[in-house]
Amino acid sequence: MPLTTIAKLLQEARHVVVFTGAGVSAESGIPTFRDALTGLWSRFDPAQLATAEAFRADPGLCWGWYEWRRLKVLQAQPNAAHLAIAELAQHVPKPTVVTQNVDDLHERAGSQDVIHLHGSLRAPRCIDCGHAHVTSLPSNELPVDGCRLEPPRCAECNGYIRPGVVWFGEMLPESAWSAGLTAAGNCDLFFSIGTSGVVFPAAELPLRALGAGARVVHVNPVRFEVSGQEVFLQGPASVMQELVESAFG
Ligand code: APR
Repeated sequence: MPLTTIAKLLQEARHVVVFTGAGVSAESGIPTFRDALTGLWSRFDPAQLATAEAFRADPGLCWGWYEWRRLKVLQAQPNAAHLAIAELAQHVPKPTVVTQNVDDLHERAGSQDVIHLHGSLRAPRCIDCGHAHVTSLPSNELPVDGCRLEPPRCAECNGYIRPGVVWFGEMLPESAWSAGLTAAGNCDLFFSIGTSGVVFPAAELPLRALGAGARVVHVNPVRFEVSGQEVFLQGPASVMQELVESAFG
């Protein structure tokens, strides 16, 4: 479907949901999970580091990976996609941003009430007792020469501090998941941007929107098959800027 036709859908939409994955932050320099990594982390598979078992088996490696990502995010700026998504609030009656990302680039671009399905890099907690840990700014503690970094210890029970993200095998935060489901079930236009759509239950949301009669638009530089009712807009996430300009000038 041409961009101008999608822009028309946007003009007419009453409730727009923007569902994002790692690809929306790629143009800010944050690597995605399933595109090949380069440099320091190229020999690791992020999916292998994203479990409680992986953390328990090698806390330093797992903590080092998430601290490296946290540093990348701190150094990054929101890109044109984050900004265009935030700008939607000025043009459409009810935009809802639901993200799988654990960075804060949507918020820094100006989006409000962002629903984080997979937690946040900014909310580490004790793996044993759950006590929240206040993050320090990165310093020379970061894994610069190697990948491992000993996690801090809990002030309450001396357990290891783990990243505040949702790992494989863990439940999504209940309120975020239920807000995501409600938004997907009530919207009339649903954008799925920069996600491989392979991680459930998050990947259910586009299906939920489709089932409820919404138009679903996938934005991705890599083309994949979609059903006849869905729309594919091929391009990087920043094509959202073009779309918002085309719809609202
Ligand atoms: N713009 C838009 N999309 C892009 C861009 C870009 N510039 N660059 C890459 N992509 C696309 C890729 O083609 C791919 O479809 O972004 C997607 C990234 O996919 P994943 O790395 O699988 O990220 P995501 O879908 O967010 O992963 C889901 O998996 O490990 C977990 O918890 C983690 O939240 C994450 C979840």
